[in-house]
Amino acid sequence: MKVAVVGATGLVGSMMIKVLEERNFPVTELIPVASERSSGKNVLFKGKNYPVVTMDTAIQAIPQLALFSAGGSVSLNYAEQFAAVGTVVVDNSSAWRMHEHIKLVVPEVNGHVITIQDKIIANPNCSTIQMVMALYRLHLAYHIKRIVVSTYQSVTGTGAKAVTQLMEERAGKIASDPAYPYQIDLNAIPQIDVFLENNYTKEEMKMVLETKKILNDEELKITATAIRIPVMGGHSESVNVEFKKPFELTQIINLLQDTKGVIVTDKPNEKVYPMPLTAHDRDEVFVGRIRRDESVDNGINMWIVADNLRKGAATNAVQIAELLIHKGFLKT
Ligand code: A2P
Repeated sequence: MKVAVVGATGLVGSMMIKVLEERNFPVTELIPVASERSSGKNVLFKGKNYPVVTMDTAIQAIPQLALFSAGGSVSLNYAEQFAAVGTVVVDNSSAWRMHEHIKLVVPEVNGHVITIQDKIIANPNCSTIQMVMALYRLHLAYHIKRIVVSTYQSVTGTGAKAVTQLMEERAGKIASDPAYPYQIDLNAIPQIDVFLENNYTKEEMKMVLETKKILNDEELKITATAIRIPVMGGHSESVNVEFKKPFELTQIINLLQDTKGVIVTDKPNEKVYPMPLTAHDRDEVFVGRIRRDESVDNGINMWIVADNLRKGAATNAVQIAELLIHKGFLKT
């Protein structure tokens, strides 16, 4: 299969290429795409060098699949152009996620919603993916009433510029081209993406709206606070969930242990809990610190950690493509 990766020189794009190789995705020709700034660069895939090309060259090549991760405006401008030549687009940006006719998919949770008509499929926000991975089976069993989530997000979620900022600051330098309005090293910034009219950030509202769409439940009550911290390995979330139905904590733990793609890492007596370093370079979502919220009738607290570049972005996108092959919507 001819596969284009749009944003191939970026953090998520290069992870997509790594994941395609690791999972032995049936690529016959890789088409790495980036901006004109990257012309002349090559990308190594399965021992072969592929030249980085521009958007127009990639569309002319008519790939069967395009994985996009080059920001919202690139997706808005180009996803439909790829779809028009018959390419199926899996888009990691937020451009199409809340569009009425576009499916927003975490394969383990709602892979069943994809049909052969879907030519642009949206990959959810990284913090949303790891949260719904842990919550969807609990929602089916006990009906979630309300979620209160606070995130502690890695700089890798912002992109290569933010990693450079953190590394320069750690080396004692003034960041040459900072991604954030403040120093991130030794700091925590309570702003991810822009502020909206309701004083939530766009990232926080993505978690609210996307969770409802993926879990197909507009009644769900969710409130989110998203924080950037100077971490590289992955995103962490403190999640408080109130259920409509009563439960036993052991049932919750059993359900999480039985959820494909989720690993329960929770032995408080042995100081065992997930951390960004635990999740780094792993595809699974790690859940720990699971305990009853003693202030309400049917509530729990938990701590959810995942590598935002992998399950939060690249791995989920490649899993969507694998599902398309499995359903016969993409031919190898
Ligand atoms: P480039 O490296 O040429 O700028 P990150 O999020 O890690 O910063 O990566 C963003 C990715 O999106 C990079 O691969 C970047 O390419 C790519 N990109 C940015 N703008 C465009 C554009 N207009 N057309 C194609 N790719 C783009």
